[in-house]
Amino acid sequence: MKIGVLTSGGDCPGLNAVIRGIVRKGIRTHNASFVGIRDGWRGLLDDDMFDMTMLDVRGLSGRGGTILGTSRTHPYEDGGPGRMREVMAAHGIDSLIAIGGEGTLAGASRLVNEEGLHIVGVPKTIDNDLGNTDYTFGFDTAQSIATEAIDRLRTTAESHHRCMVIEVMGRNVGWIALHAGMAAGAHAILMPEFPVDFDQIAEWVTSAKDRGRAPIVVVAEGFVPEGFDSQVADHGVDNKGRVRLGGIANYLAPKIEEITGIESRATILGHLQRGGSPTAYDRVLSTRLGMAAVDLAQHGHWGKMASLKGTDIVSVEMSSAVHSLKSVPLHRWEEAQVLFG
Ligand code: F6P
Repeated sequence: MKIGVLTSGGDCPGLNAVIRGIVRKGIRTHNASFVGIRDGWRGLLDDDMFDMTMLDVRGLSGRGGTILGTSRTHPYEDGGPGRMREVMAAHGIDSLIAIGGEGTLAGASRLVNEEGLHIVGVPKTIDNDLGNTDYTFGFDTAQSIATEAIDRLRTTAESHHRCMVIEVMGRNVGWIALHAGMAAGAHAILMPEFPVDFDQIAEWVTSAKDRGRAPIVVVAEGFVPEGFDSQVADHGVDNKGRVRLGGIANYLAPKIEEITGIESRATILGHLQRGGSPTAYDRVLSTRLGMAAVDLAQHGHWGKMASLKGTDIVSVEMSSAVHSLKSVPLHRWEEAQVLFG
């Protein structure tokens, strides 16, 4: 069995641990051999790959990024499935393990169902929005980095009696904001799933200030305030509805200052949340997912992906991860709101 491994889409702490889990389990248990495909589907279409051995994955469990590189190349670009088959045949690759998020898993699933390619998947995203898996690796690292950053911003905010508005990633969902905000004791957490207006935000900020606190507002990048000025929105919202005024935090901080009179500052954490070493939780989860994926390939379970259910790694349809993306449910918002202000 010769398996091609690729990482595709935005990178994510834990990718290297997945690769290590795949290669170590595959060689030791199934006598498989591996080809590392560079930069996602791009490497497969361009025939850019290398034989991947135990040595290549040595010491990878705690290393951030991906040794394979990644790209957002779509698998149906540049010759698509036909070209992939050609390249795979030339290298004697009989199957693929695709490690990726929504776009990657949707593409891989289509390649299995429509083209008959032999692919299994591993779900990946710091956003934690993939369906049919309890958590995705990378999320714990991102929420930990964001929590530490908020803790640090709090001390400078307290010294200056300021309000801090901290923007975290998450694309169209608020998981990182919710968890980092709860962990760091934010006075308001703003998520795309639950739009609130400026008056409500100002009320939470003022209430925290009145209790002698430096107000901390954590905002997910996808949040759009209720009643957001459509004239500004014309210029400032991207095609996914996200505010793009150099980040929603840069818009909110002056607005909060204007309404409440409390001096406010904005910080956008950005790609820091995807950089560096994965947490212990993410290392273990990634390694287990990688090992499970190679078992799926060994058993010919094409179209399946390894998934976390409770504390177990199970096998589910790859397509189920993308059919219903996982947003923050109402009860989690209601639970968190009790802590605001
Ligand atoms: O999906 C992961 C993610 O980090 C999102 O949270 C964010 O919106 C996006 O990727 C950023 O993508 P890029 O690295 O292409 O700027």
